[in-house]
Amino acid sequence: MNTPAGFEMKHGKMVNVQPFEAMFNASFLVRAFHVVATAGMTMAFLLAAIAAFKLLKNKFSKDAEYHKKALKMTMIVGFINTLLAMLAGDMSAKFLHKVQPEKLAAYEWHFDTQSKADLVFFGVLNDKTQEVHGAIKIPGMLSFLADNNVNTKVKGLNDFPKNDLPPLIVHYFFDLMVSMGIFCFIVSGLFILTLIFKKLRKFTLNKGLLYAVLLTGPASLLAIEFGWFLTEMGRQPWIVRGYMRVSQAATQAGGITLVTIMFGLLYLVLLVTSAYVLLRMFKNKPAQDDVDKVIEKGGQA
Ligand code: HEM
Repeated sequence: MNTPAGFEMKHGKMVNVQPFEAMFNASFLVRAFHVVATAGMTMAFLLAAIAAFKLLKNKFSKDAEYHKKALKMTMIVGFINTLLAMLAGDMSAKFLHKVQPEKLAAYEWHFDTQSKADLVFFGVLNDKTQEVHGAIKIPGMLSFLADNNVNTKVKGLNDFPKNDLPPLIVHYFFDLMVSMGIFCFIVSGLFILTLIFKKLRKFTLNKGLLYAVLLTGPASLLAIEFGWFLTEMGRQPWIVRGYMRVSQAATQAGGITLVTIMFGLLYLVLLVTSAYVLLRMFKNKPAQDDVDKVIEKGGQA
């Protein structure tokens, strides 16, 4: 939808469709890299959050050793994936600069084409004057993000047709996603420092650090949602960029409200039943019991 490929348009119809070309289109590699790295990161931090929660509840339970090991492993995996996610995020921004420049400009509220373009963090936009108030601005950083060079010219929103521009609220989703990434990077980085340096080891199970680890789970999950919001809202007004607008694709069929409610109910049932099954499986069954069983059988813990 963002970088359509693998078809030809003839008289308003899609012909000569090549599914593999469509799938492995120009943005496939960079997007797949970012999504896989952020999924790995989220999985690690969610598991770390569970371990931190258990340790905050009771550091001396039968399960404590198990959760300490889990915490170490998930923090290391989370940190590595966060680094990869950041690298992939940087590649995504460079890709947008070349292929979807209007999207990058919308993320950054960048109105005038210029070199040494600033990276704008949060702030409030005055639509009429195109002025941004209360933002943290990093001079030249948008040019650098776009092309590793502060002198690179970044195309501004004023140089695109007005009715081809995405909604400017995407700016906040971008900033929130990046903030969550930086937060997870700092927390897992600090945790790893406590593992590396003997003098810092007493802080590994520090309450404040465990609370911060607890937050990395929801933070990375939220970052995934912000990422999807920004990427899909960022391709508006197109459903297939350059070919079909969302307004042309929106269905006129009736019964949509009913289907939406039914889907909502289905997900609610799935949520309740899976929560029930998971609680039954894990309640009052210390994880250490499983480890002991493996050891009894002669395996490694
Ligand atoms: C910290 C630095 C990060 C940077 C520089 C960054 C950059 C980007 C960019 C430029 C896009 C837009 C791609 C597009 O519109 O085509 C994007 C999308 C996305 N981001 Fe991030 N991101 C970062 C962190 C994260 C984190 C921490 C997560 C989640 C844990 C995340 C999840 C996503 C998702 C799910 C998407 C949509 C998928 C896609 O089309 O690429 N990002 N990111």
